[in-house]
Amino acid sequence: MAFERVGVVGLGTMGAGIAEVFARAGLRVIGVEADAEALARGRGHLERSTGRAADKGRLTAQERAEILGRVTLTTAREDLRDADLVVEAIPEILDYKISLFRDLDRICKPETVLATNTSSLSVTAVAAATGRPGRVVGLHFFNPAPVMRLVEVVSTVVSEPAVVRDVTELAGRLGKTAVSVGDRAGFVVNRLLLPYLNHAAVLMEQGVAGRDDIDLAMKQGVGLPMGPFTLLDLIGLDTAYEVMGVLFDETRDRRHAPAPLLRELVTAGLLGRKSGRGFYGEEQARSCAPGRSGVISFDVAGQGAQELARRLAAAGFKQVSEGADVVLRLADRPVVEHAVRLPDPATMVGVHLVGDRVAELAATVLTSGDAARAATDLMKVAGLTPVACKDRAGFVVDALLLPYLNDAVRMYDSGYASIGDIDAAMRLGCGYPAGPFEMLESLGLARVRDGLRALYAEYREPAFAPAPLLDQLVTAGASEFPRR
Ligand code: CAA
Repeated sequence: MAFERVGVVGLGTMGAGIAEVFARAGLRVIGVEADAEALARGRGHLERSTGRAADKGRLTAQERAEILGRVTLTTAREDLRDADLVVEAIPEILDYKISLFRDLDRICKPETVLATNTSSLSVTAVAAATGRPGRVVGLHFFNPAPVMRLVEVVSTVVSEPAVVRDVTELAGRLGKTAVSVGDRAGFVVNRLLLPYLNHAAVLMEQGVAGRDDIDLAMKQGVGLPMGPFTLLDLIGLDTAYEVMGVLFDETRDRRHAPAPLLRELVTAGLLGRKSGRGFYGEEQARSCAPGRSGVISFDVAGQGAQELARRLAAAGFKQVSEGADVVLRLADRPVVEHAVRLPDPATMVGVHLVGDRVAELAATVLTSGDAARAATDLMKVAGLTPVACKDRAGFVVDALLLPYLNDAVRMYDSGYASIGDIDAAMRLGCGYPAGPFEMLESLGLARVRDGLRALYAEYREPAFAPAPLLDQLVTAGASEFPRR
């Protein structure tokens, strides 16, 4: 089936982005909103997004006018009667979606394909509300829709294969890469991404590290395009909260229970970019004040210590083996275990180098404020970005990254998606520099497995225990995953 006229219901951030994607690909679009005010907001999204592209020289004024000219905006659902495809992008509330799909089923011609952009809700439940369940699929875009190259095509047990094939072909025509998946809460990307974002909020609530430090660690240390709190603000805290709730309902995994902080922010109307304020807003990001600790001597121990010592000595600091102002410990165990063996435990700070730009600095319960400040200054002098955190297994980066990698292994091992699809989904859906299996292999399977063991030992969280497949590959001495 050739799709030429498409409808988009709901013109919020996602719906307007999806309408733009269709119009850019030359399709005629009917955009539907509930009332005139919402319609005006939707028009604003479209005009701003295409306006920015024109300002950057990515579109000529004429191309922009043509794109906008292909979009008709209306408040009348009945205008969708002749559409070949209708994509729904209304809020993540199942009852709303079911009632909309009943209406669309009544309004649209029998061959129209109905698609939901749901992030997590059951496509099967939506399909079952219609008299054409075989022609209902999930078509899940990523924010910002005009930029992110992934589309998840979600089929149910009753989807007609020809419909799935046609929709997948359409994704290609839109310039997107389609990953075909079954109907499970969160599909590939949100199932892996949202628990990580939620966990970041939990770490912040527990005071393991602050907002800016966590964002910095994941962006600069791991090379992700955005830190978790910046991304939560982009996605919308209300959406993230709803998705977490749906994941939890399906899995009963307590890591999927939405962080109480998310609930509080959502209740306060702090939804992220769409409301002007979420984790960020108004206030300036904390500035990094230059050093002021007056440290003159340091000692450094642990694996990798030589390189750090070399950098610090080159910057003019003196390494002494006794009576140092600050003792840096490249940590392999809880830092406090090393600290208690020192004559002055207050001088010890744990260090974990992440990539070649970031140094996580873990102060123990015994570390003095002076030593913590001295360590921060030393890292800056050594050309590293310091990230302050508590002495907890995994510090920030491993605590966030390793469970995500473990989840990806479990997802693959469950047969839900292939390694290639999971890697592509995270690269193209979230702009990650590498997919989870690529990251696992470059970090080293044994290092990830051992890190997970340490996290499990600290938090006793069952989901942190290394996935059996990972454990077995390490035991077998493998350095790669089998591409079946
Ligand atoms: N709408 C349209 N275009 C946009 C845009 C928006 N909201 N934001 C940025 N862009 C465009 C810019 O115009 C620019 O385009 P050109 O290259 O053609 O000039 C391009 O994107 C890059 O933008 P910037 O240079 O301004 O900014 P950047 O390099 O920091 O990239 C980003 C911005 C693309 C958003 C990048 O930070 C990124 O990839 N972030 C990760 C986003 C992500 O993970 N999305 C998935 C969220 S999960 C989800 O959506 C699923 C769900 O169900 C919850």
